[in-house]
Amino acid sequence: MAPQKQIILITGASSGIGLVTTASLISTPTNHVIMGVRNLAKGEKCLKDLQSQRPQGTLSLLELDVTNDDSISAAINQISMDFGRIDSLINNAGIAEGGKHPTRAELRNLFEINVFGPTILTNSLIPLLQNSPAPKVINVSSERGSIHNCANPAESKYGDGGLPAYRVTKAALNMLTVTQYKELKSFGCKVWCYCPGFVISNLGGAELQPMRKQMGAEDPQTSADGIVEILQGKRDSEVGMFIGRAGEQIRW
Ligand SMILES: NC(=O)c1ccc[n+]([C@@H]2O[C@H](COP(=O)([O-])OP(=O)(O)OC[C@H]3O[C@@H](n4cnc5c(N)ncnc54)[C@H](OP(=O)(O)O)[C@@H]3O)[C@@H](O)[C@H]2O)c1
Repeated sequence: MAPQKQIILITGASSGIGLVTTASLISTPTNHVIMGVRNLAKGEKCLKDLQSQRPQGTLSLLELDVTNDDSISAAINQISMDFGRIDSLINNAGIAEGGKHPTRAELRNLFEINVFGPTILTNSLIPLLQNSPAPKVINVSSERGSIHNCANPAESKYGDGGLPAYRVTKAALNMLTVTQYKELKSFGCKVWCYCPGFVISNLGGAELQPMRKQMGAEDPQTSADGIVEILQGKRDSEVGMFIGRAGEQIRW
């Protein structure tokens, strides 16, 4: 009998780390990746490209704007009908906007996407995670959200204090991870907080890519490899922790 497919939902699958991670995950024939995208037209193009690059992969597309409760409800209804469970949720969608002194609107937008989105989506998905024999949640955070590293800049290359509003949202996401870890382990669900490293993507705008390259940003494949390793069980001993892609643990 063929092994049961692992049903993996990843948010923000239409760009950067989410897109490359989807491509990596569908290289394993026992994975089915549901690409959560806020823009269906953009997502359809990504889906077609992936299907032509990896014809053996199994994946599907789902409209999912993490700031919109109707969108979350409709997505969950669809997953319930199509699969009846989620084995792995990757809360990857995120933005890094706002200057040194962000406006209230900028702050609201950052918190909506980086914090409220993964909070509401994960809570809403609990019944479907409970239907999995080995559920997992990965929250894609950033070392910039480490309060320890920001307070002790000599210990981290990201301790400069730049992008303050983004940092605050990722610190909140880190706390969310710890609370989810405590709650969801009651039904065997493993939760991690994951820093994907400094990589080339459209974070902050595609126009920043040349600058990111100049600053030493790496290939997003390295971020995807780290996520794949978590889902393969290679970081199981670090469940509930804040971990990086190269096997390291990051201080909260
Ligand atoms: N790149 C880095 O160096 C780095 C470092 C540390 C952490 N991270 C984290 O990695 C994650 C992925 O970022 P990335 O670097 O791959 O950036 P990216 O290329 O800009 O991708 C972000 C994704 O999030 C999606 N998104 C934005 N708002 C959304 C919403 N309301 N609902 C659903 N999806 C939404 C975007 O959709 P569209 O395609 O429609 O724009 C896009 O697919 C983020 O959480 C980021 O904070 C990145």
